[in-house]
Amino acid sequence: MSVNFMRNKILVTGGAGYIGSHTCIALHEAGYDMVVYDNLSNSSREAINRVSTLIGQNIEFVEGDIRDIEALRQVFSSHQFFGVIHFAGLKAVGESVAKPLLYYNNNVIGTIDLLEVMAEYDVKNLVFSSSATVYGDPENLPIDENSPRSCTNPYGQSKLTVEHILEDLVTSDSSWNLIPLRYFNPVGAHSSGQIGEDPNDIPNNLMPYISQVAVGKLEKLSIFGNDYPTIDGTGVRDFIHVTDLAQGHVSALNYLERRTSSTNPSDMKKSVGFLPINLGTGKGTSVLELVNAFTEVTGRDIPYQFTDRRAGDIASCYASADKAKVLLGWQAKLSVNDMCKDTWYWQSMNPSGYKVS
Ligand code: NAD
Ligand code: WQD
Repeated sequence: MSVNFMRNKILVTGGAGYIGSHTCIALHEAGYDMVVYDNLSNSSREAINRVSTLIGQNIEFVEGDIRDIEALRQVFSSHQFFGVIHFAGLKAVGESVAKPLLYYNNNVIGTIDLLEVMAEYDVKNLVFSSSATVYGDPENLPIDENSPRSCTNPYGQSKLTVEHILEDLVTSDSSWNLIPLRYFNPVGAHSSGQIGEDPNDIPNNLMPYISQVAVGKLEKLSIFGNDYPTIDGTGVRDFIHVTDLAQGHVSALNYLERRTSSTNPSDMKKSVGFLPINLGTGKGTSVLELVNAFTEVTGRDIPYQFTDRRAGDIASCYASADKAKVLLGWQAKLSVNDMCKDTWYWQSMNPSGYKVS
């Protein structure tokens, strides 16, 4: 008897990027078929080549912009998608302050364009890359999904605006099934060392900065503030391994499939509506704790100095991960040490990222 293990087909926008490339592997391992759609504005074709090698199969890749409605229509007319995982977006907070129109255009208008084409082709299942940034400076910790939302920079506003658009869309038409996943601080790399985070220029985020100091590309880490009301005065974040994060997307898709295919009336209600879910570990780790863990795991010394707080930073941020566990059956498995080990493996194997050094 021949059994077809191939599951539904998924459109992955932004699938050449950091989180998208790891998610492609998780999707393949879970039996999903996928098409990656990316304009390569912050990624490289090499990431797709490496993912294809890792999974032993060529990934179908379309180079295109989510604001190019005609190009999107072509993709939707040539495939029958179950749903879309929408990673495509710009993500640098500082750049968004300098170029707000670029961020609103790319992240908000781009998402509207995508949703319009999805509606045209009656594809109404979406997993969207939202962010813990929508919680602003949280009143309570851990942060659950009902916490108040507010943002102080255009990047965060673009994510919050998209969330509002998704809520309005569900109000207008309850057949949409929309899951914004609110990521906390994604770090780490695939255990093969073949794919990982490859920032342009000097990294803004902590883990890539640490690893570039470790590999000798940067001289010293500046720790932004040591007078926060935290365990050691440095900022506390919920670092989550990108492999766990990728698996969270598979769990969200599984959930959408279960909910939308249930034929038993006593089963769960069919429409998912707007269902925001945190993806975090539920544990806070301070900047100093992360630096020390990196040194312990890799044996690399990370010279650092304390400097002033970075404008817009908050003291502490970590998730309540209960909703993901209860609804999706998902929880993070990998430790801070795993995050450091895999980051270092990727960085030391690829000192210049995907570029040929
Ligand atoms: P990334 O920059 O590595 O990946 C984003 C991908 O989207 C890139 O490959 C880029 O080329 C593509 N892209 C951007 N604009 C596009 C457009 N208009 N059309 C087509 N492709 C486009 O970023 P990432 O870290 O993988 O993040 C993925 C998503 O998750 C983003 O939406 C980001 O805002 C969100 N997010 C990231 C983090 C994080 O810390 N990395 C945290 C929370 C949320
Ligand atoms: C973490 C901690 C810094 C760099 C950002 C975005 C957020 C989300 C994830 C997309 C803070 C400290 C950092 C350095 C340091 N992205 N730090 N020296 O700010 O929590 O979140 O990325 O959605 O929206 O704002 O992450 O890695 O920049 O900082 O001391 O060189 O490390 O002050 O306490 P952040 P981060």
